[in-house]
Amino acid sequence: MNYNITVIKGDGIGPEIVTEAMKVLEAVGRKYDHTFNFTECLAGGAAIDATGEPLPAETVAAAKSSDAVLLGAVGGPKWDHLPGEKRPEQGALLGLRKELGLYANLRPAMMFDQLADASPLKQEIIGEGLDILIVRELTGGIYFGEKGYRETVDPDMGETAYDVEQYSVKEIRRIAKVAFDMAMKRNKKVTSVDKANVLQSSKLWRRTVADVAKEYPEVELDNLYVDNAAMQLVRNPRQFDVIVTSNMFGDILSDEASQITGSIGMLPSASLADGNFGMYEPIHGSAPDIAGTGTANPIATILSAAMMLRYTFGLKEEADDIENAVNQFLAAGYRTPDLCGNAPEAKSTVETGDLIASFI
Ligand code: IPM
Ligand code: MG
Repeated sequence: MNYNITVIKGDGIGPEIVTEAMKVLEAVGRKYDHTFNFTECLAGGAAIDATGEPLPAETVAAAKSSDAVLLGAVGGPKWDHLPGEKRPEQGALLGLRKELGLYANLRPAMMFDQLADASPLKQEIIGEGLDILIVRELTGGIYFGEKGYRETVDPDMGETAYDVEQYSVKEIRRIAKVAFDMAMKRNKKVTSVDKANVLQSSKLWRRTVADVAKEYPEVELDNLYVDNAAMQLVRNPRQFDVIVTSNMFGDILSDEASQITGSIGMLPSASLADGNFGMYEPIHGSAPDIAGTGTANPIATILSAAMMLRYTFGLKEEADDIENAVNQFLAAGYRTPDLCGNAPEAKSTVETGDLIASFI
């Protein structure tokens, strides 16, 4: 089979880590007789430098006409002085999410057995390990609501600015369905996180999620306020299976969840639209401080490619193969510098990609 993938390498370590993920996909292609056609496009800082725009129209068009997008990371200090919508993060990332209709962001926070000591939590809290899936709404809420800034309404108050959190039943239902569908394939538990003791939008969220839950009688639904959820994640993270939440709460809780696994350089993500289209990227950023040193960990991007095979292409065996190859790399005692510093088992970005590709 032929699969068309738009590749956005991005900034900082982006090009290095995406190159390794492509190498692993090529190995999968050889073994299973698939052809992955890669079309490289610009977005983020690299696009600003080349075209003046963080998200050129041709990148959006190429992405829309492909089956999936593989993204490294965008942004860096070079572009930090630009105004909000011209910056790589807002212009390119939020632009791609909105333009491509990527409303469902899946962020697994799982612990790798071999990396159990990397978690900052105590062994008795971690127990047998962690496997949480955060389902974050990605194209609505406060990120995309009305925004405003006024210089002087009342001279006493000075400047005023606001951002509106707004959700419709349609937006809540579709993200809730993704969460329940995922839970059906996992441990059949959904925790919906909101702030329904204060926010109108959260009251509608909670009521709508409860409504969707009726279609999934086998799945247990819990509701938590976001402050409590933040606490429970460090107090007893093993109570969670799938967490579903709004754009901003998901942004915050997914960083917290990734950190408690201790392996932030290892975690992939998928952003899905209706149908099978998706954009796949590591959850970490562009790490400009280590760009070009060959020390970046490509595993999160390699695992993002595995998610692409699983969710967009329906290639379960091939996806399992990549995940097993990563486990073999770790089981053989190899590590990346983010996990072990300069220890002898440390492998460079390219060596890590070569080894994982060799285990396919
Ligand atoms: C993320 C990032 C982005 C977000 C930023 C870079 C705009 O933090 O993907 O979690 O807030 O969504
Ligand atoms: Mg974030």
